[in-house]
Amino acid sequence: MDTISQGKTPHLPATVSVMSQSSSRVRFVVKSTHDPLAEDGPNVIRNLSLSPKKISAVYVYDQLGSQLFEQQCRTPEYYLRRAEAVLLKAYAGDIVRQSGVLPIVELGAGTAEKTRILLAEYARRGARCDYFPIDVDVDTLAAAAHGLAEDYPKLFVHCLGGTYEECLAVLPRDGRPRLFLFLGSSLGNMEWHEMQALLARISRHTAPGDHLLVGADLDKDPAIIDRAYNDAAGFGARSTLNMLTHLNWRYGGDFAMDQFAYRSVYDAGARRNEVRIESLARQTVTLRNLELRIALGESELIDAEVMWKFEPTELTQLLENAGFSMMREWIEPIYRYGIFLLRRQ
Ligand SMILES: C[S@@+](CC[C@H](N)C(=O)[O-])C[C@H]1O[C@@H](n2cnc3c(N)ncnc32)[C@H](O)[C@@H]1O
Repeated sequence: MDTISQGKTPHLPATVSVMSQSSSRVRFVVKSTHDPLAEDGPNVIRNLSLSPKKISAVYVYDQLGSQLFEQQCRTPEYYLRRAEAVLLKAYAGDIVRQSGVLPIVELGAGTAEKTRILLAEYARRGARCDYFPIDVDVDTLAAAAHGLAEDYPKLFVHCLGGTYEECLAVLPRDGRPRLFLFLGSSLGNMEWHEMQALLARISRHTAPGDHLLVGADLDKDPAIIDRAYNDAAGFGARSTLNMLTHLNWRYGGDFAMDQFAYRSVYDAGARRNEVRIESLARQTVTLRNLELRIALGESELIDAEVMWKFEPTELTQLLENAGFSMMREWIEPIYRYGIFLLRRQ
């Protein structure tokens, strides 16, 4: 009904006033206009000069890539998202009881879909929550932050758009212990030495009393893993191939999308899934803004992503070496996916 034509005082629709109240609970610690990959050109050149060539996995996640990843997560084959959500729903109460109601810092928050399960647990306790999501995809981060603030009236979101490294360096601290989240098995999307380096960095930016909750995919029947990364709808393939689209818009590239294919193989011996992009023809690609010409052979493979499938003991060792002690672990038995709660020593 039109309130103005009825001669009443015009007022904003309820949804708008709720939006503006919630917006006041969202702030950007790192400027929302910051472009985390603005200075990354030299790394792109270096990686594409290696043999085999490589594109850093961070190029999956521009806004379109994050949307494609979300769609992949909703496919029937992609068990990781659902298994982690099942565990969080079952054990959110235990997690909060063990760690306490702490400010939350999340690495690679993305759309923060599953974080909502913990935030709902805080909300049930009537607790205020300061939430510090970190993500290299600043647009998705901002959208998620506003959505969360609308849904949780006691939530204050302090956004950090940037790489893990740069955001950890500027993460505000007020002396209270914090709960760090690293979900979605994102830790396993790195080479082993990169995991060690990142965990050491997290350790330097935490203090005794801080907690860390890690979601990690575990080794299992290779067929289950194979299906997850080769979903019938093709969202896994599209999210990886989006790396080329991303390079095209960011660096003035001319990767022709129909000249490349997605390849995903599980190496059961190494316990890691390996995703590559295959050049379907002999071709030359140019990244104009980097003054880079890339010669590719027919069937040449470019390294794109890795997904480690851990054993709980080795994951425990990795995390304990970084200065965290294991408090609890919960494993979803059907798909073998785990969440691990640790305390900084
Ligand atoms: C595998 S997704 C997981 C998203 C979400 N946590 C979940 O569990 O569904 C990884 C997320 O980390 C972000 N990310 C990847 N590499 C990053 C980096 N080096 N620094 C900061 N964020 C990164 C991506 O933008 C993406 O949102």
